[in-house]
Amino acid sequence: MGKVIIIANWKMNPLSLTEAKRIFTDTKKTAQTLRNVQSVVCPPFIYVNELKSLVSGRRCLIGAQDVFFERNGAYTGEISAAMLAKAGIKYVIVGHSEKRTFGETDEVVNKKTLAALKEGLHVVLCVGERERDEHALYFDFIRRELEHALKGVPKNLTHKLLIAYEPIWAIGREAKSADTPAGTFETTLFIRKILAERYDKKMAMNMPILYGGSVNKKNAREFLVHGGVQGLLVGRASLTPAHFAEILKEADRP
Ligand code: PGA
Repeated sequence: MGKVIIIANWKMNPLSLTEAKRIFTDTKKTAQTLRNVQSVVCPPFIYVNELKSLVSGRRCLIGAQDVFFERNGAYTGEISAAMLAKAGIKYVIVGHSEKRTFGETDEVVNKKTLAALKEGLHVVLCVGERERDEHALYFDFIRRELEHALKGVPKNLTHKLLIAYEPIWAIGREAKSADTPAGTFETTLFIRKILAERYDKKMAMNMPILYGGSVNKKNAREFLVHGGVQGLLVGRASLTPAHFAEILKEADRP
């Protein structure tokens, strides 16, 4: 088994570099002591370089929250996969529901996924339904998102791919609650089935799948043990180092 992957998605927080440095330094203190966990902190772009200079070793890396699909040129405000790779960034989140809410289409998610994989980055591809209906139509939604995102992605690029299952109703302050580990387990089986159809069974079984949505120190362990996932994508709880440290320690337990 590989390491458990815990990704901190800071979103548009914190407000200052000083605060960002404090949170990262505190997080790193715990993360670098853990043998079984790969931690990746994804801060806003403006802090990436500064925080990267604080990285020591490989156990706690800096990642990016987004990437653009073109390499360079007249694309105001964008940052390319090549730029990330040259800056030494190894992980990038693609297709987060908060980006999709502001207009990111399946086609764009697909282009970003391909561009980042071609550049050798680990892509954390987010999928997840808006609502869970009793007829389980949400599975069709997840299938569509996955199939669109992976259009034209050859198998030889998928070894750097990770899928983050993030049901939108479970994300953020407004969330009803986190998913249940049993609900996530079911979805991971479904995701693996789609991957097996598209690629092959071995690839599908080996694909790291993460859960995200209201992860905290109380439920982290349950998702890792019973949710069929190999990691977690953590929003709010990753901004409080003491809380995040508890999640990391739970993930490190054999
Ligand atoms: P949350 O966010 O942990 O604050 O619910 C998770 C995410 O959006 O990745």
